[in-house]
Amino acid sequence: MDQLLIQGGIPLRGKVRVNGSKNACLPIIAAALLTNENTIIEGVPDLLDVRTMIAVLEGLGAAVDYCQEQGLLRIAPGELSPAAPPADLVSRMRASFLVLGPLLARKKPVRLPLPGGCAIGTRPVDLHLKGLTAMGAQFSIINGCVEGHTTGLQGAGVYLDFPSVGATENIIMAATLARGTTILDNAATEPEIVDLANCLNSMGAQVVGAGTSRVRIEGVPGLGGTRHTIIPDRIEAGTLLLASVITGGDVIVENILPDHLKSLLAKLTEAGAIIEEVGPTAVRAAANGRTDAVDLKTMPYPGFSTDLQPQFMALMALSDGTSTVIETVFENRFRHVEGLNSMGAQIQVEGRQAIVQGRPYLTGAPVVAPDLRGAAALLLAGLAAQGETELLSVRHLWRGYSRLEERLVSLGAQIKRIAKEPEQAVRTGS
Ligand code: UD1
Repeated sequence: MDQLLIQGGIPLRGKVRVNGSKNACLPIIAAALLTNENTIIEGVPDLLDVRTMIAVLEGLGAAVDYCQEQGLLRIAPGELSPAAPPADLVSRMRASFLVLGPLLARKKPVRLPLPGGCAIGTRPVDLHLKGLTAMGAQFSIINGCVEGHTTGLQGAGVYLDFPSVGATENIIMAATLARGTTILDNAATEPEIVDLANCLNSMGAQVVGAGTSRVRIEGVPGLGGTRHTIIPDRIEAGTLLLASVITGGDVIVENILPDHLKSLLAKLTEAGAIIEEVGPTAVRAAANGRTDAVDLKTMPYPGFSTDLQPQFMALMALSDGTSTVIETVFENRFRHVEGLNSMGAQIQVEGRQAIVQGRPYLTGAPVVAPDLRGAAALLLAGLAAQGETELLSVRHLWRGYSRLEERLVSLGAQIKRIAKEPEQAVRTGS
C-alpha cells in the first residue's frame, strides 16, 4: 500500500482548485438507475469511491464510460440485470447502499449485504428501511443481506428519527417514481442533497424543499436522461483551508462555495485565522503564528461537519489553549487521536468528547491512517510538524481526495509518495 513521506514545517502558499464533491457524486451516480436513458455527469472527481460506485452499477448491467481527465461520466443503465450487485463491492463502501431506493423504484427485487460495522461506528441502515417500508417495500434480512422487493412504491409520510444523509437520499430517489406524494420530515439538509434533487428534477422528477427539513416529492411515471454538473467538494475545500492555516501559510482556495462552509469559516475566524472571501467562489485562508484553541461540536448540516472534525482537531492540537471537541454524529470518530498523540499532541478521549491541550509544536513520526478523514488529519499534522512524518495506509486518502499530495506540493509542501506493500481493498469510512 502507498505511503507518504511528509517533510513538515513549510508554510503553504499559492492557489489551489477544489474538485467536484464525492458525497454529491455517489448518490447522483445511483440516481442514474432511475431511468433507462443516458445520464451524463460532469465534474466527477477521480476517486476510489467513485470507481467502486461505477463497478457497482456495472455489476447491475449498466454501461458506464468514465473519462477521468475530463471528469466526465456517461451512464446507460438499460434494462438492468437481476439486482444483486457484487457483494464485496457493496460491503467495501457504505454509499453503495444508495442503489436500494432507485432499484426498488424500478420494481427490481434487490439483494444487498448489510453495510457491516466499519471504522467510524456501527452505522446501521434502519432509517433507510423504515422509510422505504412505509412506501410499500418489503424487506427481510437473510444471511447478513437485505432482500427487498415491491410491486410498486406508494407515496407516504416519512419521519426520520435522525436526519440521516443516506436515508434522505434513498427515500427521495425512491419517491420520484412512487405513486402519489411523499413528504419526508426531519430530512437531512446537506448541500449534496440539494445537488441530488436538482439532478433528479432535471430528469423530470418533482422534488421540492430539498435543503430544508421537509422535502415533498410528487411521484411521476418515468424519468429521462440528463446532463448534470456536480457541486464543489466542501470537505476537500475545508481540508485545503485548514492545510493553509495549520502551516501558517497563505492560500487561496478556488471553486469553493463559502455558503456551504459557514461553520468552518466561523470557527477558523474565531481561532484567529485570516479568512477572506476574495471572489464569489474563492476564499483566502492564512495564519500569522499560532491559532487560538476553540471548542467544537459536530452536528448535521449546517452545523460543523463530522467530516472536518479530524482535520480541525489537528489544528487544535497546535493551537494556544485547551479545546473540547464533541462528536455527536458518529460514535467512534476519534481514531486519528492515536496518530496525533504519537506526534506529540496531548489529546484525551472520554466517550464522545476529546480534550485537546494545544502544544507549541508536533514532531514527525510514522503514523497509520485510520480512515479517510483521519488520514487527512494526520497529513495536515505532518505538514505542520517538525521533521518527517511517514503516513501509512494512505490508500484511505484516495477514497476521497484526488491527487491531494500533488496539489499540496504545488503549494510548496514537501511530500513524496512511495509505493510499498501490495494494494489491498480499503473498507468504507465516509
Ligand atoms: C454521509 C456522508 C459522510 C458523512 C455523513 C454525516 C456520503 C457518501 N457520506 O454518510 O461522509 O460523514 O453523511 O454527515 O454522503 N444512522 C442510523 N440509521 C440509519 C442511517 C444512519 O442510525 O439508517 C446513523 C449513523 O449510524 C450515524 C448517523 O446516523 O451515526 C449519520 O449517518 P448518515 O447521515 O446516514 O451518514 P451517511 O449517509 O452514511
